[in-house]
Amino acid sequence: MQVFKGNFFHTPVYGKVEYLRNGLLLVNERGIIIDLVLSDNPSYSEIFDEARTNGSLIDFDDKCVLPGFVDLHIHAPQWPQAGVALDEPLNVWLDECTFPLEAKYANIDFAKKVYSDLVQQLINRGTTTAVYFATQHLNASIELARISSNLGQRAFVGKVVMDNQEQTHDYYRDVSSEQAILDTEKFIKAVRKLGEDVKQGVYPVVTPRFVPSCTDQTLEALGKLAKEYDTYIQTHCSEGQWEHDYVVERFGKRDTEVLADYGLLTNKSIMDHCNFIDERDGEIFAKHGAAIAHCPISNAYFANGVLPVKRLKQQGVKLGLGTDISGGFSPSLYDNIKQTVISSRMLTDGVDVKVEQEKRGVFDSKVSILESFYLATKGGGEALNLPVGTFEKGQIFDAQVLDSSHLPGFSMYKTPSSQLAKLLYLSEQTDISEVWIQGIKVK
Ligand code: GUN
Ligand code: FE
Repeated sequence: MQVFKGNFFHTPVYGKVEYLRNGLLLVNERGIIIDLVLSDNPSYSEIFDEARTNGSLIDFDDKCVLPGFVDLHIHAPQWPQAGVALDEPLNVWLDECTFPLEAKYANIDFAKKVYSDLVQQLINRGTTTAVYFATQHLNASIELARISSNLGQRAFVGKVVMDNQEQTHDYYRDVSSEQAILDTEKFIKAVRKLGEDVKQGVYPVVTPRFVPSCTDQTLEALGKLAKEYDTYIQTHCSEGQWEHDYVVERFGKRDTEVLADYGLLTNKSIMDHCNFIDERDGEIFAKHGAAIAHCPISNAYFANGVLPVKRLKQQGVKLGLGTDISGGFSPSLYDNIKQTVISSRMLTDGVDVKVEQEKRGVFDSKVSILESFYLATKGGGEALNLPVGTFEKGQIFDAQVLDSSHLPGFSMYKTPSSQLAKLLYLSEQTDISEVWIQGIKVK
């Protein structure tokens, strides 16, 4: 057992911070928090002294400790492209920039180099769980799963499926529907095997890129495969106007309905972006228990859109945050937490009181910094049905340790909510001194 002592911040309830000053977290060999001892507990000194004597104490002193972040949506192969090519519409960007880059991952050495760098860079920024799109290539996709498991990051990885000749190119496509399904099945088995050896877990994800890039036959077979192997599922859903219109034209239905029909909307589904879903779609999501990866930076660039977070939360839809590298330029959940708040203010667009004749904006749509933090932590855990994202008893111990000593006015603003807000708005990557995943130090 390990005993972690520190100043822990977390949000067990949406938007409500809890602060555990000088708390002791007791973590078992499996990396699970089995108890939480606060300084007013009569056994506190005894537990602290014993841990110090027997060498199981990890003391973070006066540092601040936050749960590790969950990145629900990131394209690992697009890492070299982060920060460029942000001015084209999505379909042009895919054809001209992204598919040529992703095709390079046929070269396994190139894949190893990029993926090793990316996974470590994410860990350094406090991302302890990541849900990855890899590429169409079987071997390079397995390599991404292997690299995250070796570096100690909890990873959900998908071999991307794209077989529709009309929306893909000869140089970058699954050769046939049958081959795409066979490769996905091989991928599931290979990643499950890797997962047997790693404490923090690595999981295969069935990954149709999005409806336009797949044939009907393939969408149907992927839904069956996900059911047969009880896997997670991820795809882009109603991200932008082009995709939304394309799906309606091809099927006479919305993205959400098509995905549900093919068995791709389950309580293990992560649906990316979803800017163009309406209230009926929200109900379908809630009914199936499917989650949304909100990618606010990417959405601003590629969808000119803002996800109605507040409405979806009220509808009972599971929600977390994603960076969507490289549709989003930043690998940091800190940046996406901030952008969630900023974008929600734009959605409000001047309407802060309910005025019937006022047609701009959406009334009551603001997301607070603490709510946004919840999405990046416990919201991500809920999306994946995993006990991560807080320091509650029974949760997995994933943590990032922050130095707050240089933050302006940190000691003047003593309430936990203002201190956490300062940490989220002003911390830099270099302020993260340690990262722990499932009780193991990875930075
Ligand atoms: N839709 C299909 N592929 C992609 C992708 O790589 N990035 C984003 N943002 N949307 C997509
Ligand atoms: Fe994406």
